[in-house]
Amino acid sequence: MQDIEALLQDYRRDIDCYLEELLEAQQIYSELKEALSYSLLSGGKRIRPILTLLTCQLLEGNQGAARRAGTALEYIHTYSLIHDDLPAMDDDDFRRGQRSNHLVFGEGMAILAGDALLTQAFQLLVEVDLPAEKRCRLVNLIAESAGVQGMVAGQAMDLRAENREVELAELQQIHRKKTGALFRAAILSGALCSDYSQEEWQALETYAEKLGLTFQIVDDLLDVVGDCSELGKEVGQDFRRGKATYPALLGLEESRRRAEKAASQAKESLAIFAERAGSLRELVDFVLERSS
Ligand code: IPE
Ligand code: IPE
Ligand code: MG
Ligand code: MG
Ligand code: MG
Repeated sequence: MQDIEALLQDYRRDIDCYLEELLEAQQIYSELKEALSYSLLSGGKRIRPILTLLTCQLLEGNQGAARRAGTALEYIHTYSLIHDDLPAMDDDDFRRGQRSNHLVFGEGMAILAGDALLTQAFQLLVEVDLPAEKRCRLVNLIAESAGVQGMVAGQAMDLRAENREVELAELQQIHRKKTGALFRAAILSGALCSDYSQEEWQALETYAEKLGLTFQIVDDLLDVVGDCSELGKEVGQDFRRGKATYPALLGLEESRRRAEKAASQAKESLAIFAERAGSLRELVDFVLERSS
């Protein structure tokens, strides 16, 4: 775990610098810029861009392109967090160790900051240094994963699953869409910045599905057993809002067991890469054992 922690720290530093550079490079209406910087530059594990970079490295692809694609995904992820915290959605007061965006800048500006991040993400993608055909596939993959087939659909389903009984199949669908879709996009974006075989693509798809599921089960668990100051967000909120979560449906022990199972399936799916996939494998354990 120590190795992966150090590696993650290096990647995070690189991504944070790049995010700052990108913000500085543009003239943005000052309060909007403050609202964007407030959420974008306030930490965050940067797991999605790191996944893009690690996948690209595994396939010996174009790291510059992967950095840009991964950053676009971090923009989309950050927008999803700002909107997720709004009173009309999860109504959360803390995010990334500070007050939620809307509590500092007002709901209107928070909504617009999210809009801006989503739009900027696609502008970044249009400028990714890849052949046109690959670039189009990348834009399509990310649009599909973020929008009505992916994260936005999952968020809609999550809202409508509040305070009612939900079957496991529906819960899995919510998690696959609201969280899994962006994980899939992050990992496959790394592949699109590289050359890959059909088998490699399929292995990465399975890896993404299992890792995304592990991640969201652990997120659900941390809402029950986690520590607010480590997490940088409030705990107990899912129960308060009657959210459909793994612990609510299956209890803590069974949820943990399912997270562990998904994690080992994620690692197994990397078999064809042998020892070259060491970092992606270690990242699974990091996701499973994380406390923040
Ligand atoms: C939180 O994601 C939202 C979920 C999909 C559960 P992260 O836990 O990756 O949030 P940051 O980016 O580290 O703040
Ligand atoms: C959020 O899931 C998924 C998103 C698309 C943002 P959660 O609502 O569980 O995320 P947290 O717990 O607020 O970070
Ligand atoms: Mg939510
Ligand atoms: Mg939430
Ligand atoms: Mg949560």
